[in-house]
Amino acid sequence: EENPRSSWYKGHELAAKLYHHLLLESPEGKRAREYLRARGFTRKMIETFQIGFAPESWNFLTDFLRKRGFEPDDMAEAGLLARKGDDGRPFDRFRGRIMFPIWDKRGKVIAFGGRVLDEGSPKYLNSPESDVFNKGRLLYHFHGARPSIRRKNEAVLFEGYVDVISAYRAGIEHGTGSLGTALSQEQARMIRRNADKVILCFDGDNAGRQASWKNADILQAAGLEVAVAMLPQGMDPDDYIQHHGPERFAETIVGRPLTMMEFKSAFLKESKNMDMEADQLKYVEEMLKEIAALPKAIEQDHYLRQLQEEFSLSYDVLKQELGEKIKNTV
Ligand code: CTP
Ligand code: MN
Ligand code: MN
Ligand code: MN
Ligand code: MN
Repeated sequence: EENPRSSWYKGHELAAKLYHHLLLESPEGKRAREYLRARGFTRKMIETFQIGFAPESWNFLTDFLRKRGFEPDDMAEAGLLARKGDDGRPFDRFRGRIMFPIWDKRGKVIAFGGRVLDEGSPKYLNSPESDVFNKGRLLYHFHGARPSIRRKNEAVLFEGYVDVISAYRAGIEHGTGSLGTALSQEQARMIRRNADKVILCFDGDNAGRQASWKNADILQAAGLEVAVAMLPQGMDPDDYIQHHGPERFAETIVGRPLTMMEFKSAFLKESKNMDMEADQLKYVEEMLKEIAALPKAIEQDHYLRQLQEEFSLSYDVLKQELGEKIKNTV
């Protein structure tokens, strides 16, 4: 018997092909082609990621699908079309946007992310959640990256579509995206089923840093070993690749990730003026809290000695403070 949602899969597949064709071949797609070229997208990247363009029209996809025998109401339920209210007439949801197809675990297109060409809002318009598209249950390009993730026994996790794609060009073929800073346990388990290790490579802004800290816990709880490829303040992975080139990104950022403690230390220092004594003390306090949470005594000792050396503190006092912190947490 046919899958009750097979029209949804077919509609998405057809829409992806149409958008892709329009981007590469049509006069309407010219501005989008120029936009992508200016951002460093090559023809090969556009093809590998099946990137497309939705023309500035209210009925282009609607009419196309209808002519191919798809019910507009069904396609609205699938999220491909939009409507005003429950009985409003379906119309094109995505207009004048660069289209990034989103695949499920089996590699079927089930949703899109559509980016505006300029500074419009929202920057990305995503398909609505449905029976087949649940953002918290998939990772962007996971199906494509999976063989490489298994081979390397490692995944690299990014925030954005363009980060995954730019990194791919830099030879990072085991990259996948959470499509925002949120990460679910289920997404962590998806990675865990295919690898022992994950490198977090979120944006170099406060939101990205905070999310790395939080998501590391979720990933560790799923049984993954976590490291952080930390970007300079104000840059995301794609920005970094544009500024410093793909080789440097692969070698120095993803190639030399920080341990969780190194990342925490760097992040805690970043927001402080470490020339000020008060800030130094605050930093030591915060690091002690992290050290107290480490599971192994030998690790605690290691980081304690580091703190002691860096700030010429007394080891005994630090050890005593650490004892207090541990008491307070249990
Ligand atoms: N996102 C979204 N909706 C938005 C903004 C962001 O779904 N309005 C998701 C997208 O998947 C996006 C990711 O969150 O790729 C990261 O957001 P952000 O860093 O703001 O965008 P970039 O990926 O850097 O986008 P670009 O480089 O195209 O500006
Ligand atoms: Mn971001
Ligand atoms: Mn970003
Ligand atoms: Mn970006
Ligand atoms: Mn940017």
